[in-house]
Amino acid sequence: MRTDTGQVFRLEDYRPSDYIIPQTSLTFRLHPDATSVLAELTVARRHGASKNAPLILSGDGLVLKRIELDGLPLAASAYQASPDQLIIPAPPSAETFRLTLETELSPSTNSALMGLFRTNGVYCTQCEAEGFRRITYFLDRPDILSVYTVRVEAPKNAAPLLLSNGNRQETGDLADGWHYAVWHDPFPKPSYLFALVAGDLGVVTDSFVTASGRKVDLGVYVEHGKERFATYAMDALKRSMRWDEEAFGREYDLDIFNIVAVSDFNMGAMENKGLNIFNDKYVLADDETATDADFANIEAIIAHEYFHNWTGNRITCRDWFQLCLKEGLTVFRDHEFSADQRSRPVKRIAEVRTLRAHQFPEDQGPLAHPVRPRRYREINNFYTATVYEKGSEVVRMIRTILGAEMFRAGMDLYFERHDGEAATVEDFVKVFEDVSGRDLQQFALWYNQAGTPNLTVSTSHDAAKREFVIEIEQSVPPTPSESRKRLMHIPLAFGLVGSDGKDIAHGGADDAAVENGVIHVKKRRHVVRFSGIAERPALSLNRGFSAPVTLSVEQRGEDQFFLARHDSDPFSRWQSYNTLLTEALIAAFRDGLGGKQPRFPERLVELAGIIAADEELEHAFRALALSLPGEADIAREIGKNIDPDVIFVSREALAAAVAQSNEHVLRKLYGSLEFTGRFSPDAASAGRRALRNMLLDYLAILPGGADLASRHFADATNMTDRAAALAILTHRHGETEQAKDALAAFEERYRADPLVMDKWLTIQATAPGAATLEKVRALTEYPGFTMTNPNRVRALIGTFATANQTAFNRADGAGYDFFARAVLEIEGRNPQLAARLATALRSWRSLEPERQGKAREALLLISGTENLSADLRDIVERTLA
Ligand code: TRP
Ligand code: ZN
Repeated sequence: MRTDTGQVFRLEDYRPSDYIIPQTSLTFRLHPDATSVLAELTVARRHGASKNAPLILSGDGLVLKRIELDGLPLAASAYQASPDQLIIPAPPSAETFRLTLETELSPSTNSALMGLFRTNGVYCTQCEAEGFRRITYFLDRPDILSVYTVRVEAPKNAAPLLLSNGNRQETGDLADGWHYAVWHDPFPKPSYLFALVAGDLGVVTDSFVTASGRKVDLGVYVEHGKERFATYAMDALKRSMRWDEEAFGREYDLDIFNIVAVSDFNMGAMENKGLNIFNDKYVLADDETATDADFANIEAIIAHEYFHNWTGNRITCRDWFQLCLKEGLTVFRDHEFSADQRSRPVKRIAEVRTLRAHQFPEDQGPLAHPVRPRRYREINNFYTATVYEKGSEVVRMIRTILGAEMFRAGMDLYFERHDGEAATVEDFVKVFEDVSGRDLQQFALWYNQAGTPNLTVSTSHDAAKREFVIEIEQSVPPTPSESRKRLMHIPLAFGLVGSDGKDIAHGGADDAAVENGVIHVKKRRHVVRFSGIAERPALSLNRGFSAPVTLSVEQRGEDQFFLARHDSDPFSRWQSYNTLLTEALIAAFRDGLGGKQPRFPERLVELAGIIAADEELEHAFRALALSLPGEADIAREIGKNIDPDVIFVSREALAAAVAQSNEHVLRKLYGSLEFTGRFSPDAASAGRRALRNMLLDYLAILPGGADLASRHFADATNMTDRAAALAILTHRHGETEQAKDALAAFEERYRADPLVMDKWLTIQATAPGAATLEKVRALTEYPGFTMTNPNRVRALIGTFATANQTAFNRADGAGYDFFARAVLEIEGRNPQLAARLATALRSWRSLEPERQGKAREALLLISGTENLSADLRDIVERTLA
C-alpha cells in the first residue's frame, strides 16, 4: 500500500514531459505470484526539450529485474531505481533510444485491484488512473500517447484465453503446454487505457456492421455457464454502436470489440481501448436474477464505456484535472442514449434525482470541488458525482444555450480538430464558441467554480398594465477554499402557463436575456418584464432542469398545485408535485421537533391518488411522482440540525396519510396492473412493474399489509417484483413471520449467486431502525459475505452508511463507530474502496450537535490511525477540515 506523501498536484503546474514514448512493446509471462513483464520502450526527446533532461519514469511498488539501453545492460551508476521511480540522469543524446525494462509482479496478492491482479482465477488489469505504474516504469500520464504491441504468454490450460487491446495479430503454441497471443493496437493511447485479460472464460459472440460497412467481431466474456446472462449486455452493445453512428456520426474503429465481466472490481466498468472490463454486476442479467433497475444500469454502462471510444480514447485528457472532459461528456452521451431508448421525461427525472442525491450534498459539503478541480492529493478521489454528473449537466447546458443543431456542429468540430490528441476543457469550450460565434467565457465558470448556485425568484402581475414581471437574483454559496464567488451564466428554460394549461406566447419580454424560451441569467439581478399578459400566469421555471441550481421561488401555493397537474413540461410537472411533498415534509419535521403530530394538506394527499389513476400519464412517471422524497433528500433540503429519527417519522406519516386517503384507488389500480404475460425488460413493462410495486409500498402500510406483500413475493415471476416485495416486507414488517419466511426463501433459492445475494444483504442493511446495526454486524459473519469483494462490501456496509439514515445515524454513535472500523479494515487491502466508502460521512456537519460529535469521533478514529493510505487520508482530512 502506498502511504500518503502529502504531495499536492496543481493544475497550474502542468508542463509537458521532456520525453515521449511513441512505441511500447510489452511481453507478459503470467504466473500467479511471479509474473514477468518485459517492457521495450521507444523513447524520444520531446521537440525543444533540453539534451540534459533526466528521464524520470513513475512506478508504484515495482521490483526491477533488468534494465537495458539500446540493447546493452545499463551500469548501476547510470540509473536509480526505487519501487516508485526510475531515474536515468543522463540518457543518450540521440533523439530516440530503446529502453528495456523487466519487472516482476505478484498478481495474486494484489488486493488493491489496481495494476495486474487476479479475480476468480482470471488475470485482469485496471490502469486508470495511475495503475499502469504498478506494471512497469513509465511516463504514466494521459498526455503520453503510445502505440502498443502486447505479447501474452501463459499455460494453455489455466489461461486458454489471452486478450489485450486492439487487433489480434498472432497466436501460437510454446513449450511445456504454454501458448501466446500478440495484440496490436494501431491507435496511440495513454497508458491508463492499456488492458490485459487472461484466463478461462465463456463467451457470447456476435458481430456488427458499421455504417461504412466494416464488420466488427464482438465478444462478451463471462464465467463458464453464465453465457445466457450476457445476451442483454450484447444487445445493449449493438444498440450503443448504432446510436453513436446516428446521434453523433461516430463509427467504431477496430476489427474487434470485447467486453469482459469480472467479479472483483473497484468501480462500474473501464473503457480500455477495444477491451472494456466490467464489474460483473453491470453485465450479467436475466429476469430471474436482475431487476429492471439492473437492466437499465447495464444498458447505460455498456453504452457509457462504448461511447468513451471517441470521448476519452480517440480524444483523451491532457492531464487528470481535465477528467470531466471525458467523463462529464460521456455521461451526457449515455444519458441521451438511454433517453432515446426509453422514456425521455422519465429518464430526465431519474437523472435529476440522482444528481440531487449524490452531487448536491458533495457540492454543499466539505468535499466540494469544481467540475474541473485545480488541485488534488489523490486523483482516485476525484471520480466524483461532481466530475461525472455535474460535468454532464454542464454539457447539457451548452446544448441548451446553442440549440441541438449548433451543438452537434460543435461536437463534429471537436472530433475533427482534436482526434488523436490529449485535450483540455478550454479546447472543448472553444469549438462551441467557434461554431456559434458566442462568447462562452462566463459560462466556462461552471467548470471552474464549485458550489450549487441558488436563484431567488419572485413574480408579480399588473392586470391594468397587462404586465408580468419576474425578478431573479443569483448567489453562489461559499465552498472550501473558494469564499468569493463570481457571477454565473445560468440558462433557465421556462414557460408562462395560462389557466387553460397552455403556454402563453411571450414575445414581449423587455430583457435581452430572454431567448427561445430560455432566460439567460448572467447578472446578479434580472428583472424580466412580459407585456400583453392579461391574466396572471403560473411560472414554470427551470424546465427539464435546464440548469443544476436550487430555486427559492416566491409563488402562490395554488400555482404549484396547478403546475403539478397542467405544466406541459413533464419534468416540471413532476418537480412541482415533488416540491409540494418536500415542503410538507419539512413542515412535518418542524412540527415533529416541537413534539407535534405531523399534519398534511388534504389537497396534497388527494393529488397522489389523482396522479396514480391518471391514465394519460406513463406508468413510470406515476411511480416516480408517488415516490416520496427520501429521508436523505429531506435532510438535504432542511440543511442543518438534522435528527434522522424525526425525519423518518414525518415521512412515514405522509406515506400513511396517502395510503389511507387513497386506499380504494390504489387497491384498484394495484389489481389492474397485474401482468401474467412473458417477461420483457423494456421500458414500458418496467414502468408498469415500478408503479405496481410503488402501490404495494403504500398498501403494505394498511391493515393486512404484510399478507399482501407476502403474496406479492410468492407470486412474483421476476426479480423486480420479488426484490420489491422482500424489501417492503423487511422494511415495514420485519418482525413478522412473513418477512422472516421470505428472507429465508430468498436465501434458499439464491444462495449460490453472489450478485443476487447482494440484494438480500442490501435489503437487510437498509431496514430502518437502530436494531439494524446488530443485524449488519452479524451479516459480516455470513458465509456468503467477504470484506475482500467490493460488491459485497458496498451491498452491506456501503448501503448501510448511505441508505439507512436511522440506523447509521444512531443517536449513540454506534453506527459511525462500526463503520469507521470497517473502513479501516478494508483500507489495509483496498485503499480506493475504503476512501470511497468513507465519503458517506461527508454531511456530518448538518447533523444535530450530539450526532455531530459522535460522527466526528469516528472520523478522528480514522485520521488518528498511522500509515493511512493517501486515498483515505485525503478524504478524512478534507471531511474534517
Ligand atoms: N473511467 C471509468 C469510467 O468512467 C471509471 C474508472 C476510473 C474506473 N477509475 C477506475 C473503473 C478504476 C474501475 C477502476 O467508465
Ligand atoms: Zn466513464
